[in-house]
Parts: sequence; C-alpha cells; structure tokens
Amino acid sequence: MRPQRTPNAQICTITHKNAQFARGGGAGRGFLWRLHSYRRFRERKGGVDAECPAISRRSSLGSDWLAREAGRSAWRRTLEYLVMPHKQLIAGLALLCATLPLTSLAAERPAILLGAAWYPEQWPESRWPEDLKLMEAAHIHVVRVGEFAWSRLEPHEGQFDLDWLDRAVALAAQHGIWVVLGTPTAAPPAWLTQKYPDTLRTEQDGRKAKHGNRQQGSPTSARYREFCRRIAEQMARRFGRNPNVIAWQIDNEYGAFSWDDETHLQFQDWLRQKYGTLDALNRHWTTEYWSQTYTDWSQIPMGPGGNPGLNLEFKRFVTASLRDFQHIQVQAIRAASDPRQFITSNFMGWYDAFDHYVLTEELDFASWDDYVGSGHLDAVRNGMTHDLTRGFKRKNFWVMETQPGSVNWAPVNNALDRGEVREMAWHAIGHGADAVSYWQWRSALNGQEEYHGTLVGADGTPVPLYDEIAQIGREFEQAGEALAGTSPVADVAILHSYDSRWAINGQRHNQNFDPVGLLLSYYKPIREMLQQVDIVSPDAPLAAYRMVIAPGLNVLPDDVSQRLIEYVNAGGHLVLGPRSGMKDTYNALQTARQPGSLVPLLGGRVEQYYALNEEVPVSGAWGSGTARLWAEQLQAQSHDGDAAEVLLTYGESNGWLDGQPAVLSRKVGKGRITYIGAWLDDTLMPAATQWMIRLGGLQPALGPVPEGVEVSRRVGAGKEVFVLVNHTKTAQRVTLPRPMRRVLHDGATASAVDLPPRGVEVLRAK
Ligand code: GLA
Ligand code: GLA
Repeated sequence: MRPQRTPNAQICTITHKNAQFARGGGAGRGFLWRLHSYRRFRERKGGVDAECPAISRRSSLGSDWLAREAGRSAWRRTLEYLVMPHKQLIAGLALLCATLPLTSLAAERPAILLGAAWYPEQWPESRWPEDLKLMEAAHIHVVRVGEFAWSRLEPHEGQFDLDWLDRAVALAAQHGIWVVLGTPTAAPPAWLTQKYPDTLRTEQDGRKAKHGNRQQGSPTSARYREFCRRIAEQMARRFGRNPNVIAWQIDNEYGAFSWDDETHLQFQDWLRQKYGTLDALNRHWTTEYWSQTYTDWSQIPMGPGGNPGLNLEFKRFVTASLRDFQHIQVQAIRAASDPRQFITSNFMGWYDAFDHYVLTEELDFASWDDYVGSGHLDAVRNGMTHDLTRGFKRKNFWVMETQPGSVNWAPVNNALDRGEVREMAWHAIGHGADAVSYWQWRSALNGQEEYHGTLVGADGTPVPLYDEIAQIGREFEQAGEALAGTSPVADVAILHSYDSRWAINGQRHNQNFDPVGLLLSYYKPIREMLQQVDIVSPDAPLAAYRMVIAPGLNVLPDDVSQRLIEYVNAGGHLVLGPRSGMKDTYNALQTARQPGSLVPLLGGRVEQYYALNEEVPVSGAWGSGTARLWAEQLQAQSHDGDAAEVLLTYGESNGWLDGQPAVLSRKVGKGRITYIGAWLDDTLMPAATQWMIRLGGLQPALGPVPEGVEVSRRVGAGKEVFVLVNHTKTAQRVTLPRPMRRVLHDGATASAVDLPPRGVEVLRAK
C-alpha cells in the first residue's frame, strides 16, 4: 500500500510536477512553480511559518523537521499553508488541484526510505520506464544516480550533457521515486587523465594510477580539484532547484590518496602552517632521536612509516586534504542549490584513512556502505558500525549502499539467507538509519562487478530476493509515520578517537591489540544489557551521558583531559580502558605515567604495562576471569585526599603483575573515575558492565529479552518506538513490559510478541 495522499502532499506534488514541466518538459514556468518560488523567497526572508516537506528540509535528518512535521496534522499543515499566502493564490491553487492530474510524485516522501543504486547511463533510455516500474512496485522511493557517470555528463572537455540525467530524474519522479545525485568524481573520464596526466594519483610505491579502474584521480591535485568543482557546479546549476532531487552524495567512498611531489609539498606546507617553526616541530617529534632533526621544511619526508609524530600528522594531513577536496564540491553545490537538498557522502564504517568526524562536519548527515561480504550478519559488530556512523554527526544516518544478497569481492560471495536482508534492513533502522539503499539495482552487462548481487537479473526481471525487498519497502511505508522524527537516545557514550587508533595501530606492541576489537569488548555487553549506546568523538558534548567509557584513549590532549575532569566533577562516571592517557597530541609520551593528567583524579597510576603472550588470571569485585593481550600493573596513590580502591587484582603471572591491581576506581563527589588496566575476557567484561550499570542506576530500554533478540529504541516527536530483531534461527517470544501497538500489524495491541527466525517487530509504546 502506498501512503495516502494528504492535501498537503497534493500541493507539493503539483509543485513538483510543475517544476518538472519547467525543466524536463520544456514548458514555461507555471503558476505553481511561481508559488514554489514565492515560498522559497519567503523562506529566505524568514517569513514562512508552515513548511511543505518536499520544498523545505535541511536541519537534522529524521529529527528537527520530522519532529515538527509529525506533531502537526496534515490538515493543520494544509490550513497553515493555505492561509498564509495571498488569497488569489489559494483560488488558483484550488482550480489547479481540480484540473491537474497528479502523476508526478505519488505522495509525501516517506520518513523511512528504501532505495537502490541505479545507473541509467548504462542502459538504453527505452528501458528506464520498465526499471522504474519495477522499483515502484518494490516500494523503492529513492535512487542514487550519477556517481560514476562523468564520461556521460562531460563527454568532452567543457562540453556538458545533463539532459539525459534530467530526463531520468523526471521519469523517476513519475514513479514516486526521489533522487540522490552523486558527483562523479570517483571516476574521471579518459580524456581528462590522458590530456592532464598530473591529475592521476601516484601510488605509495611511485607507480601512476591508470584509467580503467576508478579513484584514479588525485584528490590533492589542484587541476583535478578544479575539474571536480566544475562538474559539481554544472550538476548543481541544473539540479540544485529540482524538487525531485533530495540530496547529493559527494564522490564515493573517499580514501585513495596520492604520493606525488605536489602532495609532498602540500604536506610540508601544512606542517609549516601548523607548527610555525622547525624548532617546534623538532621538539614535539623529538627529532634528536636517530638524527632526524630538520633544518629545512623540504627535508621532511611524507608519512606514513617513520616517526610517530610524523605518522600522526600525516593522517591529519590526509584528513585535511580530503576535507578540502570535499569542501570544493560542497561549496559549488551549496552555491547553486536549494537548502532543502541535503549533502552527504558514503563512508566505510571503521575504515581509518582519515578522521570521519572532521570530514562529516560540513555534511548534513553521514551515510555508510554496509556490506557483510563472506558469511552472515554479525549483529553486534554491524550494530556498532551503525552507531559509529550515527555518532559522526550525532544524528540519524543513511545506509547508502548495502548488499542485495551477495557481493562480488569477498573470498566467498555467499548469499545472505532468506529473510536475512530484511533482518539487516530493520537492524539498520533500529540503530538510527532513515534510509536503506541497495547496491545495485541491476548489473552492467560488462564491467568489473558483473557478479555482484542485484534486484533484477541480466534479463531485466526480478531475482528471487526482489520480493523480500518489496516486503521491506511495504514495511518502511507502514512504519514511516511511527518512526518519523525519532532517533536512538542513550545514557552511555563510548568515546572513539581516530588519533588514539592511529597511535595504537602504529605501535601495537602486541600484534593482536586491535583498538576496534577493544572497543567492541566494551560495546557488546553494554549494548546487550542496556539496548542502547552512543559512540562519539572525545570532542562531543558529554554532559547528557550518565556514563562515558573510553576504551583506549591513548592520545589524551589537554583540552580533552580537562573536559573529562569536568565531566566527573559534574557527577558523571568516566571509565578508562587500557593504554589510556599515554600520549600527548603529538603522539609523544606524556611525561606523567598513565593516565597522564588524569592521575590525580584517579588517585592512582600505571606503574608498568605488559604485552601478554598468555592469559593472566584476574579476580576481585567482578568475579574471576583472565586478562589477555595487555595488562597494566596499577597502583593506588593518594592525591588530595583518598586513593582509588582496587576492584580487580592479577593472580600469579610474570612475577611483576602477581597480586597487583588491575582495576582502580575512585569516587569523586557525585562522580567517579574507573581505570581498567587490562583487556578483560568475556566473563569479566559483562560482570564489569553489570557493576557499572548498577552503580549508575541505568535501565535497559525495554527489559529482558531472549538471547539473540536485538532491541533498539527510537524516540522523538512525542513517540517511543521499539524495533525488535530476532537474529537467531529459532522462534523467540518476547514479553513486553506494557502493551504496545504492532506497527507492522495494523497497530494491533500486544503484551507479548512471537518473533519467527530472523523475524522483526516494530512496536509503538507511545
Ligand atoms: C638494535 C639497535 C638499537 C635498538 C635496539 C632495539 O640493537 O642497534 O639501536 O634499536 O635494536 O632492540
Ligand atoms: C562499494 C562501492 C560501490 C560498489 C560496491 C560493491 O560500496 O561504493 O560502487 O562497488 O562497493 O560492493
């Protein structure tokens, strides 16, 4: 069932349609287009008190706007909308409503979108209507288009052909499908790199990238950036006001970098600007070590691979370079587009080539590409990646790509089980996704990805998975109203720092010490017990959290340390994991023992750290278990009053650790700081988590559920919605703490629900 049209939607629909006439059909700008322009004029002047969803939307995806929108009935919105402008417009509008067929956009845009990556440039135009019809039948409401189509958009230097894309956008609209336009800068055309070879990336081993793959353009090349700016600008000029285009995706999966001379000079210049003097740089990098002292900026090699200070700065430089590369396109698009069009880019989860908090700063929301590859959904790890992505901007996000069954690049490209694709889709929504989009609709008949999973086959008809996708689409429509304006909310934050990850990964000391694995060891029990947790940057506001966990905050800059001290003094519980507070912001050792400037607050310190080649017994207040990979010998010390109490102690081990503290905790006013000096095993970690939860008086979002059933909660706009996903292959019964409405079952009230294997339940509590 497609959503019912509301009068408000009709206004928007007509407005869209008219805009399409003005663009696609070549007809002159009509009455309603003028109404649309009038409204935009008033919006700019700040004079609008009612919003048409399709016209004005920026702020925060799935929250501010949707919250406001959901709080007002369609009729009220219509009334506000109609009363505000001139009366003549109302009369004209009524007339047009009566005469115009509403064929362009079927309805208000659903709050939760199902999508697919569509490549119209790979197919004859005569095929498009059939594809779009099949998408419409699957309840697909968004397509991402254009992100590799540069050779079609600019077939020759400076000659642009955007007409075909305009027609594709218009045709999609006729099927109730909105468009995300990708800028094509991850796939430069052959004429460009042939004529300007300096736009090609240089690999770290000195080889030049070649045409025939993608990401061969150098993101640091001034010339390449200019070509990117120009194509983005051309697209924005054409589509920046197109009501059917709802968002932009800049480039595709950033990360490829260039090791050419131009980039090297930029790195040296970037360092000069940051450090000011070589003396400062030499001091912070301790370059007396191995005679690394620099007497000229041009002597500084480009990382990674050398001095830890240099390595960390190189990562920050890559971040700054990619941000500049992105910014040039963002600027070009913003200058020529309607503010209701969002700008995003699609990231790759834990990929750490750059700092995602920095890259997402100027984006409207973050997106990521969620692929399982070989095997099956690991709901904890995947959920953690959703939460990571939500934390980039601390707002809802999109799954811009996900696998329709299988991929083509894993060691074994097995398909997800029947029902598992739906399980993944709802798992994403539970964690705060507002869209799930499949890569891809149909395989190009040739090209590197012929074997990838799709929704239609080479013959253009649906594959078996198509029906499951259509079911997801139907359900997204059903649940849209309940989920509009809602987001996950948590009492606990886990801090994730790229600096710390880079610093540890550069010098793991134990090859198995994976910082993301450490984060997971904290995330898993917290998420399972509380059913909600945020993952945020150490720079995020922390005051609203009852507990903040920093699993391995290796790099502890002074300002972060100060904020953490304030957090504890204000009554929060700060939990630090091993290797915290060891390095300063230059990746140099702090002159204090760990956790550096937090030692006085903790009332204790790290005496020595040990990489472990075998597990070490640990016992105390949290029971008994083992430490693995890493163990720090702690010592409680008195600073301005009481010392920390010892919660866990090492058993017999290497002699040094025997009987020594492994965990310290100290109450500070109403707050508390706890330092866990070892990587704890799967027995101790849940026990530690229980202790933290009890101490903080924290409650799970829903309550106890059978193992393997994942609970997610989204709140906002006066609503509270639970998404339950059964990640097991057996049926599960969940007893609800109070009766709730079953959103996917016509709102029927239930006090218990039965989840079939891989089953899903969406429950509205408020
Ligand atoms: C070698 C080198 C030293 C030092 C040690 C570290 O012996 O000569 O400079 O690097 O290894 O084990
Ligand atoms: C990435 C890319 C897509 C496609 C898929 C295949 O996510 O962004 O273009 O190559 O992988 O899984």
